[in-house]
Amino acid sequence: MEYSAEAPRRVLTGITTTGTPHLGNYVGAIRPAIAAAAAGERESFFFLADYHALIKCSDPDQVQRSTLEIAATWLALGLDTQKSVFYRQSDIPEIPELTWILNCSAAKGLMNRAHAYKAAVQANEEAGEDPDFAVTMGLFSYPVLMAADILMFRAHDIPVGRDQIQHVEMARDIAQRFNHNFAELFVLPEAVVDDDAAVLQGLDGRKMSKSYNNTIPLFDTEKRLRKAVNKVRTNLLEPGEPKDPDSSTVFQLWCAFADADGVAYMRNAFAEGIAWGEAKKQLFERINDELQGPRQEYERLMADPGHIESVLRAGAGRAREYSVPLMAKVRDAVGIRALT
Ligand code: TRP
Repeated sequence: MEYSAEAPRRVLTGITTTGTPHLGNYVGAIRPAIAAAAAGERESFFFLADYHALIKCSDPDQVQRSTLEIAATWLALGLDTQKSVFYRQSDIPEIPELTWILNCSAAKGLMNRAHAYKAAVQANEEAGEDPDFAVTMGLFSYPVLMAADILMFRAHDIPVGRDQIQHVEMARDIAQRFNHNFAELFVLPEAVVDDDAAVLQGLDGRKMSKSYNNTIPLFDTEKRLRKAVNKVRTNLLEPGEPKDPDSSTVFQLWCAFADADGVAYMRNAFAEGIAWGEAKKQLFERINDELQGPRQEYERLMADPGHIESVLRAGAGRAREYSVPLMAKVRDAVGIRALT
């Protein structure tokens, strides 16, 4: 398990367990991650970041529910848990242990510059509140927990959204400091931002995001999926009037689910003036074709949390084959040692 130059580059990413995955999460993150893991050229680690969820969410049932939903989603979509290591953060006691040790070498000044913390302080200042109003230590030191997630598994490549690049850079900084002060134990990670990954538009044409309330559900009922697709914003052009695909959310969604021939087909249909109702009907059918098998599997899994629990525990067992030995070295390196 020693790192060597020939070792495959290891990929690791975490999913915070708040909320229910939507179509934008699927197209932008989950589908490409599962496809990359299936291609099997690299070791992939995927985990449910439930300790991170506590920073944003103080509803225990919601944290638990979201953990179940996200695990069921990844499994229903075909994540191969033999090829990748799939686990729940809180099943790895070495992560909080490493977090503390990293806390002791991470500079407070570095954390002061974290975007999420700075945004909270700024919002407080604008509202005339104390700058630290409602800012928890969890929010403030969150990048250190994230550094522990990454450094624990000596991951090289961290696929993340743009908002997380800074956190990966902080992990790198923290690793460098530790390696310099104690022992060369950590790999220096890099953020990987996929510029080609589709950023899916939501119902109103803005980026699909829970915070804009414009999402299309991933695994709700077929009926609700159809309803949501029907709500995608269009313009007032009548059937028979040519429509511009490149400014259309319907077309953009179509492209996320169609191959090259399908894209050419719909481009042509727009030029020929396909009615919005018809375009949406076809869009719904295309999405539903891709999702109906996984949806059934999702429902089956959601009804069997015991199975998911056992999959996650097995994943944690595999993850700990890495974390336990590394943690032993970290403890030794900082002087947490037996006295004999
Ligand atoms: N903070 C990330 C997010 O909100 C989730 C996350 C937690 C993560 N730990 C990680 C991502 C480690 C990559 C690597 O999206």
